[in-house]
Amino acid sequence: MEVVIFTAELLQQLDKITSQYEQRRAALLPVLHAVQEDRGFISPESEADVAQYLGIPVVSVHEVVCFYHLFHRQKKGKCHFSVCQTTACALRGAEEIIEHIEKRLNIKSGETTPDGKFSLTRVECLGACETAPVMQNNKEYKGLLNKKMIDELIDRNS
Ligand code: FES
Repeated sequence: MEVVIFTAELLQQLDKITSQYEQRRAALLPVLHAVQEDRGFISPESEADVAQYLGIPVVSVHEVVCFYHLFHRQKKGKCHFSVCQTTACALRGAEEIIEHIEKRLNIKSGETTPDGKFSLTRVECLGACETAPVMQNNKEYKGLLNKKMIDELIDRNS
């Protein structure tokens, strides 16, 4: 697999991150976040880049990317709805919210609209159960979701 080289700007950012850790490998999570921020998602090439940069096996990077839903393995829309489907949210209408988003955007969970504007992902507990149903909209958490909130977000980002 070809290893893609980081841009000078990203490399500088990664060096700053790793300088805060005694062992480079301990910076894996923040390094992955920075790479995802820069590239939009974590491709197999990005996994290889990160592995080479940190001096760890690619499989170690891959395992982390697959484990955390915060890392995307495909390019996501500019407005990304990550809706929690775990028990507290499920009991308070998460499925209805997901179905509403699917209907409004004409996509299924796990898909991105053809214009690249929106993505929908089902995720597990976001740790904000007291405000169920909850989603992460890009970096922002939104709780006590209802269809009106979803409609406003879709209209604002269309
Ligand atoms: S169950 Fe949805 S945030 Fe915890």
